[in-house]
Amino acid sequence: MKKRILIIGASGQIGSELTERLRKIYAPHKVIASDIREGNQELMESGPFEVLDAMDYSAIEDIVINYEISEVYLMAAMLSATAEKFPMKAWNLNMTSLFNVLNLAKEGKIEKIFWPSSIAVFGPSTPKINTHQNTITEPSTVYGISKLTGERWCEYYHKKYGVDVRSLRYPGLISYKTAPGGGTTDYAVEIYHKAIKHKKYISFLDKGTVLPMMFMDDAINATIGIMEAKSEEVKIRSGYNLAAISFGPEDIAASIKKHIPEFEIVYQPDFRQDIADSWPNSMDDSEARKDWGWAHTYDLDEMTEVMLENLQGSLRRTSE
Ligand code: SER
Repeated sequence: MKKRILIIGASGQIGSELTERLRKIYAPHKVIASDIREGNQELMESGPFEVLDAMDYSAIEDIVINYEISEVYLMAAMLSATAEKFPMKAWNLNMTSLFNVLNLAKEGKIEKIFWPSSIAVFGPSTPKINTHQNTITEPSTVYGISKLTGERWCEYYHKKYGVDVRSLRYPGLISYKTAPGGGTTDYAVEIYHKAIKHKKYISFLDKGTVLPMMFMDDAINATIGIMEAKSEEVKIRSGYNLAAISFGPEDIAASIKKHIPEFEIVYQPDFRQDIADSWPNSMDDSEARKDWGWAHTYDLDEMTEVMLENLQGSLRRTSE
């Protein structure tokens, strides 16, 4: 089968940059973007786009057959903060969409799946520092429960039915191209926007809330890296721990202050604090580094530079 890729959830924070990168690597017409809503201009103009509900099995199947899809990246999901507000909706979306693609692969209609897991599979009883791949997973959030369950199903489909599914436990992801929505780690994106516009940020996470984080370019490298790895190199079929940098709101504020000295941060934690407190501070991702050669590139200050430069640039362009 020739390689043809379908991205479900392509208009979102990860999906939009993943589509852009995959279209650069492969011919744009071989990378089909899909989402329940249209994406940004670059996404819509750079290749094929289909409106698609990730919950609709036969709609996904139609696209898979029409475009002769061999690989699916399932990026549609409800994230942690929104999922706490709509538990059943989150469970239904996160699980049904996963079963849809797992079953398509089980039936031999697609060859390979990428499905994102998260640091949210861990919970309050997990050791917080350098959290190991196989330590306690007792998530206390709806989102985390759906990700842990999803991981178990991925491994089950791989072992029982030979489905080639690959997954990463993403940390909080920081990017400037498409805004995230409904996550607990989203503060680390908002802070850059507010630093540029208002020189002040009211943080919904408290000082000292250290979480594992990563710049989007690294996350895209990891995603394509695990998908391009030889099947026998991908030894973990639940979800690989994945890490780059760890910091709290005060660290990112200090990094911003190097460029915007008058920047100020104040702390007003809300319900998302409980979610953040249940997650690790830092992750041990040595299995990913060993099995398929994962390595990150951006540290906090490098990321800050790129974020501020690009957000300032787009602000200048919109005010011109
Ligand atoms: N970034 C996600 C969230 O905050 C965690 O995977 O929900």
